[in-house]
Amino acid sequence: MKPKEQHVTVSHPGYSDEFYREEDAPLAPSEPEAEPLHKTHDTTLEANLEAVRMLGLKLPTDPRWVNVAEKTIEEILTDHAFCEQKAATMGVTLIVKFSDHARLVDEVTPLVAEEWGHFRKVLKELKKRGLNLGRQRKDEYVVALHNQMRKGGSREQTMMEYLLVSAMVEARSCERFRLLSLYCQDEYLRKFYYEFMVSEAGHYRMFIDLAKHYLPEAQVKQRWEEMLLAEAEIMANLELRGDRVH
Ligand SMILES: [Fe+2]
Ligand SMILES: [Fe+2]
Repeated sequence: MKPKEQHVTVSHPGYSDEFYREEDAPLAPSEPEAEPLHKTHDTTLEANLEAVRMLGLKLPTDPRWVNVAEKTIEEILTDHAFCEQKAATMGVTLIVKFSDHARLVDEVTPLVAEEWGHFRKVLKELKKRGLNLGRQRKDEYVVALHNQMRKGGSREQTMMEYLLVSAMVEARSCERFRLLSLYCQDEYLRKFYYEFMVSEAGHYRMFIDLAKHYLPEAQVKQRWEEMLLAEAEIMANLELRGDRVH
């Protein structure tokens, strides 16, 4: 039987200028392969801040979120399954909307397969625990991110909006999976989430690179900066729940 829905609020450490400096340009140093994202397994808040900074995110999640999330892991898994479904669906949307962009089609097609593979993997985890997928929940985070997308620009600009929102969801998912991979009590779950973290970090980078391929880098960078600020505000206003990935 599923545990009762549990809403828990933990505080955000908050965004400060000290945490984000101008020289930490998000498009270059935040590229995931630049380490230590994949290998950091110490448990200091400082290490967490560093990894988040490398993703460019301006508001780090309080690591204590994991303590709550782990207690309602079935809820997290259900929400996670739908996150993977949405990532795959978004990939298909991108391919259909911008089907005349060969590189986008070439790179997003295998991503869709990978996200669907993630969905199946999470579904398998649910089954292992005797649970079914159940009904989808409203994803307030993704809805809010989509709401701040700019409309009415050129087709290329619209594509950039889609690519950067996709990159943002990947970056935040990566941050949350990283926390789960570090702080879950259960070793199996730590490994489980580590694999997702690595994969989503790669997707984040791919979306940013695609945007830079099709649009001037300065334009992408400026819009990414704006979106990072908007995302931090969205996060600050969202209840940090133990039953949600975002
Ligand atoms: Fe995924
Ligand atoms: Fe992804």
